[in-house]
Amino acid sequence: MKTIPKATEEALRRDAPHRGLFRITTRDTELGGTALPAGAPLLLLFGSGNRDESRFPKPDQVDLDRPNVRDHLAFGRGLHVCPGAPMARAEIRVALETLFHRLPDVRLTDGFEPTYIASFFFRGLESLQVSW
Ligand code: HEM
Repeated sequence: MKTIPKATEEALRRDAPHRGLFRITTRDTELGGTALPAGAPLLLLFGSGNRDESRFPKPDQVDLDRPNVRDHLAFGRGLHVCPGAPMARAEIRVALETLFHRLPDVRLTDGFEPTYIASFFFRGLESLQVSW
């Protein structure tokens, strides 16, 4: 149970439910050395930033001991950061605590291979097969 908060953050980082969102620049600016004019449409890929190896070494791996485990972009960042993040974190914690309390032996079904819904903006499993 102690690992649930860190596992939640790693899951949010590695499989951010929102892959990205559009933005439009409000003024001329520069991003990572690229000049962007005012009015430029941008697709910000939170999911890609969450696997930036300069921030998260071995980004495809689950590592609950990352010192910056909460420093992901799954809830966005800045003015429009998700106001529901504390509630979402609480819901995930309560759901997992309840699941592990009721089904202490729950585990992935042998041979389960995750497949993801075909969506431009959302990342979610088609199904999750578990046994107990
Ligand atoms: C795991 C669950 C959730 C994820 C991954 C998530 C993620 C996000 C993301 C990426 C944004 C856009 C941030 C941006 O534009 O920079 C957002 C915005 C928002 N979220 Fe969530 N969210 C979650 C749950 C919730 C819940 C439970 C609520 C409400 C109770 C909520 C309410 C909102 C609202 C109102 C906005 C718009 C904020 C704005 O535009 O100023 N979210 N969320």
